[in-house]
Amino acid sequence: MPRQLVIANWKLHGSIGQVKSVLGEVAKADLGANVGVCVPFPYLMLAKQILHPTRIQCGAQNVSQYHIGAYTGEVSAGMLADVGCELVIIGHSERRRLFGETTESAGIKMRAALDAGLMGIYCVGESADERREGRAEQVVIEQLQVLKGLPLGLFAVAYEPSWAVGSGMVASEEQIAPIHALIKNELDPRVRVLYGGSVKANNAASILAVEHVDGVLVGGAALSSFEFIEICKAAR
Ligand code: G3P
Repeated sequence: MPRQLVIANWKLHGSIGQVKSVLGEVAKADLGANVGVCVPFPYLMLAKQILHPTRIQCGAQNVSQYHIGAYTGEVSAGMLADVGCELVIIGHSERRRLFGETTESAGIKMRAALDAGLMGIYCVGESADERREGRAEQVVIEQLQVLKGLPLGLFAVAYEPSWAVGSGMVASEEQIAPIHALIKNELDPRVRVLYGGSVKANNAASILAVEHVDGVLVGGAALSSFEFIEICKAAR
């Protein structure tokens, strides 16, 4: 049975000092889980250097859908691979809500990532209104369509209901398990499905014990080495 995955999403946080101190501690810890850390672009090479002696993988939080050319401000999947990245988060709810990411563009980015040899972590999830209206399942199914036909094993899906992101409101076991089952049913039972949304050291073990949960995607709590190491240790 492969170990659960614990992925950190630093979002728009960090500095050279913070990368050195947090990842320096994480690199020294004895972590049982499969761990990845997604930091802002400027810190990728430093993170890679610090994590190099460990099995911890390094990743980005977005990627261009283009490979090369006159696309000012873009970073390609090939460039990420070139600096040693192994992972990339794609289609996060913050990118969908604030930066115009669509399911279609996220699907193109997933293909670009996989072609470059990166593991794509594709985010899905409903808003509070969509859940209230009973549309959570339908929204997730629509977001999953672009993954059909992608090689299994080269990507994971993160279920992050946007109302649980950064809010301190964790989805309940009764909300997580059926959506994770739906994702596996829609794609393949072997697809790894992570949960994201207010995962902390004090709730990680119970979330990681929920049926069909193959890991967690951690935001705020990943900025503390103590919290993040505790979450990694809770993985089975
Ligand atoms: O990608 C992880 C994320 O969106 C969850 O953030 O801060 O609620 O753990 P947070």
